[in-house]
Amino acid sequence: MPTTDLALNIEIDRREASPIYLQICERFKAAIAAGHLKPGDRVPALRGLATQLNTARGTVEMAYNVLVDEGYLQMRGAAGTFVSASLPGAVTPSAARKSRERADAPRVKRAQADTDIGNDAKPLRPGLPALDAFPRKVWSRLVAYRARGGDPATLSYPDPSGYRPLRERIATYLGLSRGVECVPEQVFVTNGYRATLELILRGFAKPGDRAWFEEPGYLLARNFLVDAGMRLVPMPVDHEGLDVDTARALDDDARFAFVTPSHQSPLGVTLSLARRMKLLDWASRAGSWIVEDDYDSEFRYVGRPLPALKSLDRDDRVIYCGTFSKVLFPGLRLSYVVAPERAVARFGQITKSMNAGSPYLYQAAVADFIAQGHFARHLKRMRALYAERRMLLMNAILKAFGDKVSIELPTGGMHLVAIFHAGRDGPIDDMAMAARAREAGLAVLALSAWYLNGRAKHVLRGIVVGFANVADATEAARLAGMLRRAYDG
Ligand SMILES: Cc1ncc(COP(=O)(O)O)c(C=O)c1O
Repeated sequence: MPTTDLALNIEIDRREASPIYLQICERFKAAIAAGHLKPGDRVPALRGLATQLNTARGTVEMAYNVLVDEGYLQMRGAAGTFVSASLPGAVTPSAARKSRERADAPRVKRAQADTDIGNDAKPLRPGLPALDAFPRKVWSRLVAYRARGGDPATLSYPDPSGYRPLRERIATYLGLSRGVECVPEQVFVTNGYRATLELILRGFAKPGDRAWFEEPGYLLARNFLVDAGMRLVPMPVDHEGLDVDTARALDDDARFAFVTPSHQSPLGVTLSLARRMKLLDWASRAGSWIVEDDYDSEFRYVGRPLPALKSLDRDDRVIYCGTFSKVLFPGLRLSYVVAPERAVARFGQITKSMNAGSPYLYQAAVADFIAQGHFARHLKRMRALYAERRMLLMNAILKAFGDKVSIELPTGGMHLVAIFHAGRDGPIDDMAMAARAREAGLAVLALSAWYLNGRAKHVLRGIVVGFANVADATEAARLAGMLRRAYDG
């Protein structure tokens, strides 16, 4: 069995923004694609390559693990590590240059094609609140009241940072319900989470910055950040949320960590207290920013929610993000971000230059909705309704799929994840299944689409479905039947 002298040809550039283990992965993939390494070739031992590259053995081990996971290498115990006999995708010498040139772009295109469920309210759409249960009458009364009133501000340019009384309401609400201590000046109203991200990037990011990103993680944010030029380093998530130790080992000096601590998107786990402390400690030491996406923590069905990560932030490293899309409705396009104290002036300047603000009328109506107690009442009602609807959908899917799926009853949020068990011929192609479900009129997303690296072996296959709009057991059974037909092909 030939042992390659590849170690002699690998070069690592410590000035490159990419972490060393990723550089090693890239060099191996390029060598395989170029035909310098062939199926069955033995690759250098960990220690040898580490010495050669003057790096830690753990760094090389990490790179090898990724390459094994992605199907490029195989570990055969004491015999060593080898280039796989069956390489992933179309890795051929002739494809070498092309694949390297296209390495990033197709990944994003693939993700966007596989994640496009349009904008309308099709059944099972993840993250869409119960449209049938929104108190439309109260809402129209409040909007009409503001529209009829004589306040000239209704017709003038809004404050780009947000309508002051709404900022005040949000600051109070966050203090009481999420443990986030902030003043209204820190709260900036935006037109959605991606607008929030844009503000954050303009405030803090430099070209080529790297960021920890949960794997799997919120795909719309991922696509946005990749398009914006951020270098995302996928970080594993387990039953305690983001694995901070592994993330630190993989890339200790990333500038950002994008996390969903209350209810991991999409898996639904909660970041444990121990991990929260580790994450904050890392950010303080590294001088990095944690972007906390607290998108649906209001809906919790078991026990009391942990306060926001921001509530533990003693060093002003957490940028807290919230939205009215789940607690009210997404057509509002109203979200918010709590700026770190040291960045309030900067955020103020950026909002002035970046956008012309959000419509005054809706901001004022939301402020009234909160002030008059409708918000608290609506949340209470939705908690009870969603707890019931999640059971309806989960039971219906389990009945339709039998032992082909497993579902953990969600402890919060508005979606559930059904994980497909591998079939006799290997893992189920969840992308194809979800595409068939979409053709049948359902807004379903494949779980593997939420991974930056959806090809890796550890990727879970399944579907992510929203339960908030499932009206009753009959509807749940009908939708589960449609899902089963899409699964059967
Ligand atoms: C993980 C996650 N973050 C944030 C949001 C909120 O996005 P927006 O405020 O743009 O509606 C969503 C909505 O689906 C989400 O799923």
